[in-house]
Amino acid sequence: MVIQPEIQGVVARTAHPYGCQQAVQQQIDYVQSVAPMTQGPLRVLILGASSGFGLASRIALTFGGAQAETLGVSYERGPSDKGIGSAGWYNNIFFKQAAEQQGYIAKNIVGDAFSDEVRQHVAQTIRDEFGGHIDLVIYSLATGIRPDPETGEVWRSCLKTVGENFSGYSVDLENDELVPAELTAANDEEIFATTKVMGGEDWQQWINFLLSENLLAPKAKTLAYSYIGPESTYPIYHHGTLGIAKQHLHQTAIAINQQLAQMINGQANIVVCKALVTKASVFIPTFSPYILALFKVMKQMGNHEGCIEQMQRLFAQKIYSAAGTEKKQCNDSDEQSDLALIRMDDWELKPEVQLQVNKLMAEMNADNFRQVGDYAGYKSAFLALNGFGLSSVDYTQPVDIEELSRLAP
Ligand code: NAI
Ligand code: NA
Repeated sequence: MVIQPEIQGVVARTAHPYGCQQAVQQQIDYVQSVAPMTQGPLRVLILGASSGFGLASRIALTFGGAQAETLGVSYERGPSDKGIGSAGWYNNIFFKQAAEQQGYIAKNIVGDAFSDEVRQHVAQTIRDEFGGHIDLVIYSLATGIRPDPETGEVWRSCLKTVGENFSGYSVDLENDELVPAELTAANDEEIFATTKVMGGEDWQQWINFLLSENLLAPKAKTLAYSYIGPESTYPIYHHGTLGIAKQHLHQTAIAINQQLAQMINGQANIVVCKALVTKASVFIPTFSPYILALFKVMKQMGNHEGCIEQMQRLFAQKIYSAAGTEKKQCNDSDEQSDLALIRMDDWELKPEVQLQVNKLMAEMNADNFRQVGDYAGYKSAFLALNGFGLSSVDYTQPVDIEELSRLAP
């Protein structure tokens, strides 16, 4: 069968397996083309490894110099009568294939990271395949739901403001339009649920579990990814439900940092990333015009990065550089003093970038957003996430689903 992109709103209903393979390969090629990390972790657990920042972390740590062995956890769909399967499914398969070809151990566990079953499976795999210990745990889950481990009740996050409603625009990738969108104000229950899903509780539980099972090496580190953004977006992000959940994540980092320091001489950090097009971020209503403007400006200034550039720079220059991550170097004076934030949004938040972004945002409307903002870049980034639009793939060729079904993650 020949696979074409099918987009509904901001959701891709199809993915191209060999396009995903090429997208993974391009990221591998990138990290091999820049200055390598000269140190790094040997064994890494990545929760949320199949796309976005988690996948980019995995690629950077394996192919960007550190030669890390990786255990990736993700929630993805394989081929079935319902369809070809999700992009992340193929990212897992083709990452692993590429890693193994170079002699690196790469294991995938596909299942619900919130479940006890997956935790047990991870523990067993670390014992069996990773010599019993890991050096780095990356927490990069992005999801809208989390089951309560005690009751099985499901918390659902919501993307809302806190306080006042916000009216703006979102891109509609299906029809290439900018459409009016509104964020309504969340109630207390919705804020609570969003914090349960995207805050730090599950990260803390993972660390407790790994410590209790004695699976963390001495001096092991853990990272979780976050977003803050410029003040102009505070009403829709930093001060909204997701931002409140992220503040909880930041508070959790302080607790985990103390815990790891005491128990294994380890460390926890929050990495504040740049706004990028991922499967998760396209969902945030009224946020896309900001990304359109940001991409336009940063590409013009020559300091635009995607997930892979962000993650290679993070590990090579901020975490595993010769200087290391001494806490004093990554403290952020605006935040609580014992919270070590690593700022990968440093270029995004440059005053000269934000000045231009604000100008473009003020001009942008439903008629001119394709010119004023980088809509073409936004759309092609979205298509590439699903394996479409890669120059090295012949999309007229049918793919053999039976052959693909035999590939296991
Ligand atoms: P993504 O959607 O590309 O990746 C999410 C990952 O989580 C996937 O591997 C998915 O399979 C996995 N996942 C989701 N639910 C799961 C479950 N129940 N069990 C196991 N795996 C599950 O998202 P993205 O954007 O890479 O997000 C990762 C983190 O980065 C999030 O914390 C997000 O807030 C943060 N971040 C994202 C930014 C952006 O602009 N995209 C900016 C700054 C931070
Ligand atoms: Na991720």
